[in-house]
Amino acid sequence: MDALEAITVRTASAIYPVEVASGAARHMAERMAAAGLRPSRVAVICDAAVESSTAAEVDRSLSAAGMAVARIGMQATEDSKTLGTLGDLCERMLADGIDRSGAVVAVGGGVVGDVAGFAAATYMRGIPCVQVPTTLLAMVDAAVGGKTAVNLVRADGTLAKNMVGSFAQPRLVVCDPECLATLPVRELRSGLAECVKHAVIADPAMLAWIRGRIDPILARDPATLAQLVARNVKIKAEVVGADEREDGRRAVLNLGHTFAHAIESLLHGECTHGEAVAIGTVAACRLAGVLGHGSPDHGSAHLESAVRETLSAIGLPAALPAARPAEELLSAMASDKKKRGGALHLVVPFAFGDVRVLGDVPNDAVRAAWRAVGAG
Ligand code: GLY
Repeated sequence: MDALEAITVRTASAIYPVEVASGAARHMAERMAAAGLRPSRVAVICDAAVESSTAAEVDRSLSAAGMAVARIGMQATEDSKTLGTLGDLCERMLADGIDRSGAVVAVGGGVVGDVAGFAAATYMRGIPCVQVPTTLLAMVDAAVGGKTAVNLVRADGTLAKNMVGSFAQPRLVVCDPECLATLPVRELRSGLAECVKHAVIADPAMLAWIRGRIDPILARDPATLAQLVARNVKIKAEVVGADEREDGRRAVLNLGHTFAHAIESLLHGECTHGEAVAIGTVAACRLAGVLGHGSPDHGSAHLESAVRETLSAIGLPAALPAARPAEELLSAMASDKKKRGGALHLVVPFAFGDVRVLGDVPNDAVRAAWRAVGAG
């Protein structure tokens, strides 16, 4: 295992390490013991559709340390992130003899982490959870901060995302950049969209850092990926530490996401989540400019061009793949509106590090932001 960088997440409810090291998955039992976790039985929950070498490595390490391992596969799509899947997981854990002295190890991307994390939070009123994210997006965002949830299905068949869940911090997060070796490049790029988001929130120098290292990143150089992941986890840890339950500051992590959710709901499957976040972040930058808070040298105009330049270097889109009417996109933002007392809350980056949540943005400004990313 390469040198390990550990970032401590300190929230109101928990303190835990996020460990970043190439080869760490092969040393899971050791990493868990170092975090005070020595369960006798472990449910390793992973994506049933892929032969996960990481899950196999985790399984080997835990078994060699004398733990009884139950490997439980689940469908890892947004459509299968349901109460039914949660129930199936919990019943499998029951059948496999997982009790209160056991633990869940979630190996996979955001869907596996969210559902397995919620299973751990609720099974027998809560057992320890270890997150082993295997996508860049999950390493830098989803696996850190304790958001766990499943979707509900509305009467018309559409998904209401993350409607049942809890804030339940994991006991340990292990990020092994070697897991990214086989991640499809489109998914790797999508994870970089969340890094661009973090740069706008708290680390402007990261944009040039990414642009200067795009080749080693896309070539999956483990040392470069470890630095990238650690740098982003520090930002996420700081935000989550300040506001675990999203009563205030944590909402800045939704930068670009209200635009992204509208894109995802209208363009079903045409954009990955990260691609939608990339487009949404550009729209949010333009919104700041339209609202007039950016100054020419050090505000939203500079920010939007730096974001566009970085997205282009990464190979992420800064515009919709096909023009849609701004009005239609504005209406599609309504599902986020329903979550907060009927008002649309938008995260607006006025300058690097000056990112605010506004609840009273005029529709005309939002339409202008949509037009900046190709809406008609
Ligand atoms: N992914 C946003 C958050 O964890 O709050």
